[in-house]
Amino acid sequence: MNIRIAPSILSADFSKLGSELKKVENAGADLIHVDVMDGHFVPNITIGPVVVKYMRKATKLDLDVHLMIENPAKYVDAFVKAGSDMITVHIETVTFKELVAIARKLKSKGIKLGISLNPATPLVSIKKTLGIVDFVLIMSVNPGFGGQAFMPQAIDKIRQLRLLFNKDIFVDGGINDITAKIVKDAGANVLVAGSYIFGAKNTKSAINNLRRGET
Ligand code: DX5
Ligand code: ZN
Repeated sequence: MNIRIAPSILSADFSKLGSELKKVENAGADLIHVDVMDGHFVPNITIGPVVVKYMRKATKLDLDVHLMIENPAKYVDAFVKAGSDMITVHIETVTFKELVAIARKLKSKGIKLGISLNPATPLVSIKKTLGIVDFVLIMSVNPGFGGQAFMPQAIDKIRQLRLLFNKDIFVDGGINDITAKIVKDAGANVLVAGSYIFGAKNTKSAINNLRRGET
């Protein structure tokens, strides 16, 4: 499967968001990962729809919006309106019924739906959703902050999911040149990376390392 790289804007310098977006766009990023946190589902607060709206104007890349918030069903419309191209919700925050309604809404607007699960949440909890989502985002850190260490338990989850799911598998948290190779081997094909990309001296080689580093 072709490998795509999604820089996580959480690790960017927010005082110059527009040029940070251009920097990763020019360095070959495939999409922009946007971490939305509410201080309830995770112990941190980040950005909301108003920022997504202006990011939409500042890049031509798809915006992959990762909702780490309670009651995402209530906020999906606002993130759709702001210009999201993909929206991921956490299985820990929705009922199946809510997810079906979100899936229907996003489909009618041509927006992709992802389901995510925390490191402590077993794969079986998302099995029922695999038929209605476009992709799965496997968390390889406890959500809340950039710059944490990769949790190796994610590897088995990716491997097992790949056996039963042939669409995109995203992996998010602690991705660098070493862990990238491991998760690609396990079957992930979209790599989210924040600190590794935005902390790099050479953004282009950082992205290339993640994408092409030998597998
Ligand atoms: C964690 C976020 C991640 C994070 C990744 O809660 O969902 O997207 O920004 O950052 P790194 O790559 O630094 O682990
Ligand atoms: Zn994320």
